[in-house]
Amino acid sequence: MEVVVCKTKEEASKLAASIITKAVKANPKTVLGLATGSTPVLMYDEMARAVREEGVSYREVRSWNLDEYVGLAPTHEQSYRYFMNENLFKKIDIDLANTHVLNGLAEDPAAECAAYEKQIKDAGGIDIQVLGIGSDGHIAFNEPGTSLSSRTSVVYLTPSTVKDNARLFFGGNEAEVPTRALSMGVGTICEAKKIVLLAFGANKADAVKGMVEGGISQFCTASALQMHGDAWVFCDEAAAAKLALKDYYAWRSATKLAL
Ligand code: GLP
Repeated sequence: MEVVVCKTKEEASKLAASIITKAVKANPKTVLGLATGSTPVLMYDEMARAVREEGVSYREVRSWNLDEYVGLAPTHEQSYRYFMNENLFKKIDIDLANTHVLNGLAEDPAAECAAYEKQIKDAGGIDIQVLGIGSDGHIAFNEPGTSLSSRTSVVYLTPSTVKDNARLFFGGNEAEVPTRALSMGVGTICEAKKIVLLAFGANKADAVKGMVEGGISQFCTASALQMHGDAWVFCDEAAAAKLALKDYYAWRSATKLAL
């Protein structure tokens, strides 16, 4: 796992976006795994800037998103499909038909999840998977206690995640946050060829510590990334604050990025 410690989230977002921009320039048919939440928004803005100013094109890129709330229509303002349309897809030249988000209204959720897994496999797998991290160390909606080999399935949100997401996205109203979601599994995520995880702010410091320096455990599902051969973690200073080897990671990653 490569940990890139930046002074600010702006700097971290630019670096992370440059990995995606470079990949799309090199291979216009790149397959992306995308994430929602407040964390990747600056990175998505930077990707959109590269489309406007550097002529990067997403016309042939295909994407699969990590997760979606059960019961929310794609038009619902808090749905992850709506979030992606507003925060990224409208700002770049991607063909919406090439973008995939799990259907939170699927009548047969298990069949929806199995079909999603098949679509990703048929596309040749995810080239770059973008991730945020929950304050309890979850990736996608894989909460503490989820098997590290889990596949896309219906999952259940913990009260702390309901609280976090209400604060950020549901006007603070916990009663409105769905308690179930469809989510790619930890095993599904770890099959991506490259992983780019973003973590900003002091409320992510414990999760980052667990992910990077804790044991591999289903109680911090992001720790499964320790087993991945090409996982990059972009943090700001606050999110990296509890890492024992913070300065070493910063030096090592800066050296590798400069190569
Ligand atoms: C949700 C999403 C995750 C995201 C997390 C953190 O739980 N399912 O993919 O990483 O929120 O969100 P934020 O970036 O807003 O802190």
